[in-house]
Amino acid sequence: DKGEFRHYMMKEIYEQPKVIAACLEGRISESKVLTSCFGADSGFLKEVENVHIVACGTSYHAGLVAKYWIEDLAGLPCSVEVASEYRYRKVAVPKNTLFLTLSQSGETADTLAALRKAKEQGYLTTLAICNVPSSTLVRESALTLLTNAGAEIGVASTKAFTTQLTALLITSVAIAVENGLSAEKEQALVNAMRSLPAYVNAALLQDEHIQKVSDRFANKHNALFLGRGAMYPIALEGALKLKEISYIHAEAYPAGELKHGPLALVDEDMPIITMVPHNGMLDKLKSNMQEVAARGGELYVFADRSTNLHSEDNIIFTEVPKVEGILEPIVHTIPLQLLSYHVAVVKGTDVDQPRNLAKSVTVE
Ligand code: M6R
Repeated sequence: DKGEFRHYMMKEIYEQPKVIAACLEGRISESKVLTSCFGADSGFLKEVENVHIVACGTSYHAGLVAKYWIEDLAGLPCSVEVASEYRYRKVAVPKNTLFLTLSQSGETADTLAALRKAKEQGYLTTLAICNVPSSTLVRESALTLLTNAGAEIGVASTKAFTTQLTALLITSVAIAVENGLSAEKEQALVNAMRSLPAYVNAALLQDEHIQKVSDRFANKHNALFLGRGAMYPIALEGALKLKEISYIHAEAYPAGELKHGPLALVDEDMPIITMVPHNGMLDKLKSNMQEVAARGGELYVFADRSTNLHSEDNIIFTEVPKVEGILEPIVHTIPLQLLSYHVAVVKGTDVDQPRNLAKSVTVE
């Protein structure tokens, strides 16, 4: 039932404050991440020295964000790979490596094949972050952390992604606690997590503004998404969403790569979408934006007010709520979901059932 919404995708975008709260429920206390959420076998948290994350599509993008969190908070090496690559190559597995899969459906053929291969490779253990409790992935993994997003009908994944990120943040903090994260820092992170549903709600308030902005994309054939740090995977996810449902060719680059090639594409017909994080990279990103503006590119900037960016010639500004840095990838996802949704509606495509795509990719 779509309720008051025209499409499942929009209903699912608007469910995010509620399902993120459901994902946090019982997993954090007033001051701590509750390791009991990993079940009776949470002992792996003490032993893990390395993390391998394997997934496909949007779930892979969630994994890419987690790499930043695990290396930053826990100081442990983390590698992320698409399942269709992982499953067919020889993999080096260092001692005490956690094998972590991400999947909304838990039925993605490549992800299942990767898990089955991993089980022969001497990993510390296997953990699945998944949305479907009765899925094959959950059944075949040693440990599970459910995302609790409820059924996702739209082929373009939205609430499954932000709950995967929430579950990954819980996991990253739990691993970090065993690797020297102070009680004070843990408390601050838990406080931040508790605010997430409200932040996502605040991000949804830009819906009407984003709808207006999306009209400008109706006649575009290409778009370039730029992000730095953990915002780079969010750029990848924004580009994937736009491709999937509006059929506009979109690419994402780490902003620092601009001069190494993609800048050649920039002209008046190329919209550039930038997610501006509120951290030390702001100045660098501003200089990338100048490079684009100097070539007549149309800049769409998503940032919080404290960045002092605003709409002016060549810049179309969308405000994102100001949040703790660790949460920025989650909160910045919301306006990009809304953008792709509204562009698709303007273009008249089938939002919930994009051509050529299936909700669950159960064959190779
Ligand atoms: O069910 P999974 O999370 O394993 O699915 C992986 C991808 O097929 C999926 O995320 C796909 O990329 C979505 N259509 C993205 O919106």
